[in-house]
Amino acid sequence: KNQSVPHFMLEEIEAQPETLAILVQKYKEGYVLPLALRAKLAGIRSVTLLACGSSYHAALVARYWFETLAGVSVQVGLSSEYCDRDVRADDHDLMIAISQSGETTDTIAALKHAQASGRPRTVALTNSPGSTLTTLVDHHLLTHSGAEQSVSATKSLTAQILLLFMLANALGQARGHLSAEQVASHDEEMLLLPNVVAQTLLLNKEIRRWANGLHRKNNLFVIGRHTHYPVAMEGAFKLREVAYQHAEAFPAGELKHGPITLVNDDLPVIVCLPWNQQAQKMLDDLKAIRANHGEIFILSNGNIASVEGTSVIRMPSGLTHLSPIIYIVALQMLAYYCAVLSGNAIDTPRNLAKVTMDF
Ligand code: BG6
Repeated sequence: KNQSVPHFMLEEIEAQPETLAILVQKYKEGYVLPLALRAKLAGIRSVTLLACGSSYHAALVARYWFETLAGVSVQVGLSSEYCDRDVRADDHDLMIAISQSGETTDTIAALKHAQASGRPRTVALTNSPGSTLTTLVDHHLLTHSGAEQSVSATKSLTAQILLLFMLANALGQARGHLSAEQVASHDEEMLLLPNVVAQTLLLNKEIRRWANGLHRKNNLFVIGRHTHYPVAMEGAFKLREVAYQHAEAFPAGELKHGPITLVNDDLPVIVCLPWNQQAQKMLDDLKAIRANHGEIFILSNGNIASVEGTSVIRMPSGLTHLSPIIYIVALQMLAYYCAVLSGNAIDTPRNLAKVTMDF
């Protein structure tokens, strides 16, 4: 481990501009999506994504891309639940099992369950070459993130998300759903990504300042809409996983249908608010929180005024589709600093285990 960085988790958070740049470079060189897989994509009509934990959040982000960029119907399944469902699949269905380790028992079982249900095409997306999952599928795709030592997934997760974006684009292209111009503009965005992630890491002091107050809170909400709802889920998951805080994620529009009853001046709400098509609706959602005296912590690249009861951290701009990645990076830092301030065992959270391959 780099001696100047106190924890693997921080080292792995800070490595993300580099790990993502490596993945983009390999993609440009044609190493990421094998031609044999690309050749099969034209006949795909539906996609099922299977995963656990953080990998499940990557699947939920990617769902929107497979729908919008590839024009296919999409299901996302939690591996541990999927095995108890009656599912049917044929060779127009693409099953994508996502797992950093490639060894998670539930995800292996879910994939086998899908295979027993028919003859789907199968892909494993993993950080571990040679892992069990890679031996069970037609094609495996690697995130190329290097060994991840901290139990909590950071650099492997953002690489999964980027790799799913690459795959959704390839599927959209193969199915004639995306124009060459769209593909080129998405490739451009991938090239920009590492630098925008690096800019996000520079927000560490502001995020640490948030953590000074937030790490003492027993309960927190994290909210977002559209692709940033799974981002909120990942942020809440990280706060539970490493900071041992009870954080819950909600789609911002659902708050008024129940959870708003819990909002008060002792329940901070962390808001993922990219300046996009959902931004105006998000601002309306915030009014209800303020009306209930909720303290609001906003991550946004929009020009949002810091009125009383709100604190805003200005996120970098420049990304559209890949914006979820930088909001995840910001929330990784928040959970990390909350965990540090609480004196937790950052790299080996209690009761959790991880399978890490040697590279
Ligand atoms: C859990 C870890 O046990 O497994 C999570 O605590 C992780 O951090 C999850 O996301 C899934 O792991 P994998 O290797 O299948 O992506």
